[in-house]
Amino acid sequence: MAPRMNDLDSLVDKAKSAFGAAATPADLENAKALFLGKSGRVTELMKGMAALSVDEKKSRGAAINLAKQAIEAGLNERRQALADAELQAQLQAEAMDVTLPGRNRGQGGLHPVSLTLERIEAIFGSMGFDVAQGPEIETDWFNFTALNTPEDHPARSMHDTFYVEGGSATAPNLLRTHTSPMQIRHAVQHVKKYSKVSSNDGDKSAVSPLYSGSMPEIRVIAPGRTYRIDSDATHQPMFHQCEGLWIGENVSFKDLKFIFVDFCKKFFETDDLVLRFRPSFFPFTEPSAEIDLQFSSGPLAGRWLEVAGSGQVHPNVVRNMGLDPEKYIGFAFGMGPDRLTMLRYGVNDLRLFFDGDLRFLSQFQ
Ligand code: PHE
Repeated sequence: MAPRMNDLDSLVDKAKSAFGAAATPADLENAKALFLGKSGRVTELMKGMAALSVDEKKSRGAAINLAKQAIEAGLNERRQALADAELQAQLQAEAMDVTLPGRNRGQGGLHPVSLTLERIEAIFGSMGFDVAQGPEIETDWFNFTALNTPEDHPARSMHDTFYVEGGSATAPNLLRTHTSPMQIRHAVQHVKKYSKVSSNDGDKSAVSPLYSGSMPEIRVIAPGRTYRIDSDATHQPMFHQCEGLWIGENVSFKDLKFIFVDFCKKFFETDDLVLRFRPSFFPFTEPSAEIDLQFSSGPLAGRWLEVAGSGQVHPNVVRNMGLDPEKYIGFAFGMGPDRLTMLRYGVNDLRLFFDGDLRFLSQFQ
C-alpha cells in the first residue's frame, strides 16, 4: 500500500503547486478542472478502483477521499488568497488622499438668455408693462386663426410647425410658433375683467358683443419659449420670443417707436444706436414693420441687425380680443431675446446657448 499512498501525496502536492501557480480566478478554475473535474485526476483514480477487491476498495477509497479533501482545501485556500489580493488591489486603486483640499460645490447661475429675459422684464416693467406667461402647447385658434392668419398661410404647413396630439382633425394643437397668441389670451382676460361681460364664445373665449366702454390700457409683455422647424447658426427649433402689446384709445405708431428705441438704449446701455422701421408684412398687424438696429461704434458698428417684428394691431385681431376696433387701437411687437443676447455679449453662434457647455455658460456669471 505504501507506494500508492505516496502517489496520492504527490498528487496532492502537484495540485497545490498548480493552484499556487494560478494567478487569476480563471486560471484557478482551469487548474481545478485538471484535478477535480469530470475527467480530472481524482475521478480517474476513483474509476481505477473497479478491479480491486472489496477490502482493497475500502482502504483505497478512504485514502483517495482524504487526498481529494486535501486538494479541495488547497483550492479553497488559493481562492481566498486570490480574492484577498483582488480586494487589496481595489482598495489601493481607490485610495484617496485625505490631505487634498476639498472640491467646492459650483455656485451656479442664470443662463445668459434668462439674464436677458430678466433685463427685458425689468426695463418694460419700469415703463408700466405687465408680464404675462402662456402655454407652449397652443391651439390653432390662438396661434393662427385669431391672429388673422388665413388657412393657406405657409406658416400653417405641417413642415413649418410642430403639431401635437389634441385639438381637432382640421385644427390640431401645436407648439406655439411665436408668442403672439399671448396678445389674444391676455387681452381677452383683461377685457373680461373690466367689461364685466361674462358671455364667452366657446373655446375662442372672446367676449361678445365687442366691448367699447372704457378700461385701463392693456400694456403687457409675454416672454417665453417658441418652436419652429429650423436649425442653423442663427436658428434653433426651440427659441425665445418676447411679445409686447399696448392697446388703448389713442395709441399710435409713434408710441411704438418711442417705446422700442427707449428699450434698446436701456438694454444695450448706450445712446449710440439707431433704429430703422422697415416696412414688412404680418397678417395680424397693419401696417407692419421689421425693426432693425445699428450700432454706431463697437465691433458691430455699421451693420443693420433685425431684432423684432412689429406693427399696428389689425382690426380683426382687435375684434378677436373682444374689443371694438372703432374705439380701441394699439401696437404689438415680437422680439428675439436670443438675438439680443448674442448682440449684447458678442456671441456669433446661437447653438452655444443650448449646448450646455459650462466653459461657455460660466462666462456670464
Ligand atoms: N409674431 C411675429 C413673428 O414671430 C412677430 C410680430 C409680433 C410681428 C407682433 C408683429 C407684431 O415673426
